[in-house]
Amino acid sequence: MNTHVSVREGRIPESNERTGAVVEFKGVTKTYGAMCVLQPTSLTIDAGEFFAIIGPSGSGKSTLLGITAGFVTPTEGSILVDGVDVVSIPPYHRNFGMVFQNYSLFPHMTVAENIGFPLRMRHCPKADIAEKVARALSMVRLEGLGDRKPAQLSGGQQQRVALARAAVYNPRLLLMDEPLGALDKNLREEMQEEIKRFQQNLGVTVIYVTHDQHEAAYMADRIAIMRSGTLEQIGSPRELYEEPKTIFVASFLGEATLLPVTALRKVADGQIAAEIKGDLTVQATAVPGTATGKALCIRPESIALGSAAAGLDNSFEGIVEDTVYTTGSVRYRIRLADTAHVMTARIPSRPDIALMQPGDRVQIGWGRRDALLIGED
Ligand SMILES: Nc1ncnc2c1ncn2[C@@H]1O[C@H](COP(=O)(O)OP(=O)(O)OP(=O)(O)O)[C@@H](O)[C@H]1O
Ligand SMILES: [Mg+2]
Repeated sequence: MNTHVSVREGRIPESNERTGAVVEFKGVTKTYGAMCVLQPTSLTIDAGEFFAIIGPSGSGKSTLLGITAGFVTPTEGSILVDGVDVVSIPPYHRNFGMVFQNYSLFPHMTVAENIGFPLRMRHCPKADIAEKVARALSMVRLEGLGDRKPAQLSGGQQQRVALARAAVYNPRLLLMDEPLGALDKNLREEMQEEIKRFQQNLGVTVIYVTHDQHEAAYMADRIAIMRSGTLEQIGSPRELYEEPKTIFVASFLGEATLLPVTALRKVADGQIAAEIKGDLTVQATAVPGTATGKALCIRPESIALGSAAAGLDNSFEGIVEDTVYTTGSVRYRIRLADTAHVMTARIPSRPDIALMQPGDRVQIGWGRRDALLIGED
C-alpha cells in the first residue's frame, strides 16, 4: 500500500495537485519530565482548511505546531497526514511548508536563491527551479526583486519571501508560528490578506499559531483556543465569539461582561431566569450543554443605552463609571445601580451625540438572547 511505501522511504510524497492535506491528531501528548505541556489531543483538520491556534503564552501552541513539523517528538500519540503517520519521519522529509516569526532568510543569498533553496535541496532541475521561483515571486507580488538581498527589503517584503520559500514546492500543509509577530499593524493587515489569498489560491491546509485574536478571526475557518496544554474549545470564529462554552473562552476572545450566577430557573426551552448577586434577575439564554452555567456573558456591542434600552428583556438603571473614545465608538463602563456589577458597553459614536461622563445616570439594557449562560471552567 502507498502508506507503507511512503513510510519506508521515510518521506511523504510531494503533491502536484493543488489540494491540501487532511491532518489527524490522535492522542498526541507531550511531557517534559513530570510536566505535561500538551494533554492528549485528538483533532482532525480538513483538506484546505485554515486552522488557527490561539491561547495565552505557554499554553502549548508552539509545542503542538513543533510536533506537527517534527522538531518536537511527542511523548504519545500519532499524527496522520493524508493517512500516513508522520511521527517517525524527520522534519525535512515531511515536506511541509514552514514560516516562523524570525523568518530566517539566508542573508548571503538573493531573494530568488532563497526561494529556490527548497527546490535545490530536492534536486529539482535548474529550468524548473527558475520557472517555479518566478511563479512564487509573482504570487507574493515581488516580481523584479529576485536579485536583491534580504537586507535590501522591507520587513513585509522579507516576510513574503519567507512565505514564497515555504510554498514554492507546493506543500500540502503549511505551518506558521506567529509569522507576522514582528510587523507593524498596517503591514500585518496587508500580509493577512496576502496569506489568505495565497492559501485560497493554493488550496493548501494551514495551521497558524498567533497571539492576535483578531488575526485568527479574520483568517481562519476554525480556531482552537488553547489553555494549559488543552484545546479548550474549537469552532468557527463566530461560534467561539457568540457561543463560548467556558468563562475562559468568553473572556479570551473579544470583550465580555461576565455576571456571576447564583441561582437559575428555567423559563422555557433554552430560556432561563438567572439570579445575580445584588438581587437582580436577568432573562438569559442557555445553549445546549451549558445547563449548569456559572456566569452570564454579555458582549459590549449588544448593550443598549438610554431610550434604546427601554422595553428590552433586561433593563436597569446604571451609572457611568468610565468613558473611553476609540475610533468610531465609545466604550462605557457602567455600574448597575445599587450593585457592584460593572458592564462594558460599546456604542457607535456620532459627531452630533454628546458623550456621557462619569457619574451620569443612564438606562442600560440587553435582550435575553444577548445574555448567554456559560459553563464552568
Ligand atoms: N524544551 C522544553 N523543555 C521544557 N519545557 C518546555 C520546553 N519547550 C517548551 N516547554 C514548556 O512547554 C510549555 C508550552 O510551551 P509552548 O512554547 O508550546 O507555548 P506557546 O503557547 O507557544 O507560548 P508563546 O505564546 O509564549 O509562544 C511552556 O510552559 C514551556 O515552558
Ligand atoms: Mg509559541
